[in-house]
Amino acid sequence: MRERVVSPRRLEGGVAPPGDKSISHRAALLNSIASGTATVTNFCVGDDRTSMLRCLRGLHASIEHQPDEGGDEALDRFIIHGRGLYGLGEPGEVLDAGNSGTTMRLVSGLLAGQPFYSVITGDESLRSRPMDRIIHPLREMGAQVLGRDRGSRAPLTFQGGGLHGIDYAMPVASAQLKSCILIAGLHAQGETVVHEPAASRDHTERMLRAMGGHVEQDGLRITVRAGDLTAIDVRVPGDISGAAFWLVAGCCHPNARVRVQGVGINPSRTGVLDVLEAMRALVSVEVVGEEGGEPTADITVESSLLEGTEIRGDMIPRVIDELPVLALAACFARGTTVIRDAQELRVKESDRIRATVVGLRNLGADISSAYQGIPVADDAEQRDGMIIHGPCRLRRGVCESYGDHRIAMTMGIAGLAAEGETVVQGAEAAAVSYPSFWSQLQSLSQGAPSAVR
Ligand code: S3P
Repeated sequence: MRERVVSPRRLEGGVAPPGDKSISHRAALLNSIASGTATVTNFCVGDDRTSMLRCLRGLHASIEHQPDEGGDEALDRFIIHGRGLYGLGEPGEVLDAGNSGTTMRLVSGLLAGQPFYSVITGDESLRSRPMDRIIHPLREMGAQVLGRDRGSRAPLTFQGGGLHGIDYAMPVASAQLKSCILIAGLHAQGETVVHEPAASRDHTERMLRAMGGHVEQDGLRITVRAGDLTAIDVRVPGDISGAAFWLVAGCCHPNARVRVQGVGINPSRTGVLDVLEAMRALVSVEVVGEEGGEPTADITVESSLLEGTEIRGDMIPRVIDELPVLALAACFARGTTVIRDAQELRVKESDRIRATVVGLRNLGADISSAYQGIPVADDAEQRDGMIIHGPCRLRRGVCESYGDHRIAMTMGIAGLAAEGETVVQGAEAAAVSYPSFWSQLQSLSQGAPSAVR
């Protein structure tokens, strides 16, 4: 599917992004192994949700979907009848995580602890992504796990159970890896300790604590012990990773005012706000409350005279999903923006360094792949970021999504601020996390009077 985007004279309105994907996935998985019944609302939408629910139901989790009578998806109710830590059952079929890395890695933590045989796979993109990072610690904990390509890629097979705790120094700052080990640790004898190289999103820790789990945190050291969980109701906050697209659109469009409503502002996720502030964006955050132990806010953004910045080190895990759209913002900023230490981008749903550089260059951006802030070839093995010289005038062009939802949406936002018509090929990829993205983009372009989801 192709989407054609033309910059409107004014960009104005309110948007409520879908429920946070990371929190929704944890609410479904952890409630499924808790005791009691929980209701989850404002659940994330899109293909990744389908993937997580399909895998959990394949394990005999009980999850009912009650659509809202008025048709407002945010009010749909997901009723989860927890089966307890060991109440799930052996799947009769191969579990399919689709395009969702979070599903594969979190569910793998569960499979490692369950005393049965299981197989999990995913689509072509997911089958090419590294799984050795989870296989190594799970094997150290005593799980029998095999994977393709000498144990590094899916499909993965598990003969789970009989786990013991480990003390593990994570080689990458990844919340998926951390959560996988913590979930396995719920099923292990003794303590499981993980040390993160930098802080990644902490939704698993927060939710486990809210469910009465034994989790302790001391800086970058997290400890978990086995123990029953109690199901909890969750109203999922809006996804800041979805909100980021509208924030960047509002900053870069020359005549814009956009309000993004009900956004989760867990500090482990708000790197995008810190980076935009460093770029001197006109962003104001109004804290409106707390949903499920997670703070939420309405965020307003206006056309801004952006300045280049550096994004590196401990900031990277806090903006990992927003880097493509922040690279777009950097095209509109005065001066140079350097993104480094972000080699993880190369193993996301696509190689996001290359996809971003090639896509934005097609629109006239002065952007290159980089290693430690020095330009390198787009396929160089050591690439860890990008370097962008701005401001540049983006203009009409054709971009590819590479089947990656965040790249599709980044290019759509580029079209809102570029001159002439921008064509996004493979635009349907947005449905992985944000099915209403293109219609919301239309509404904002037409000056939508109120929030649309
Ligand atoms: C996620 C963690 C991040 C992020 C992904 C969702 C999660 O991945 O990119 O979209 O829900 O834990 P890593 O933790 O592997 O960097």
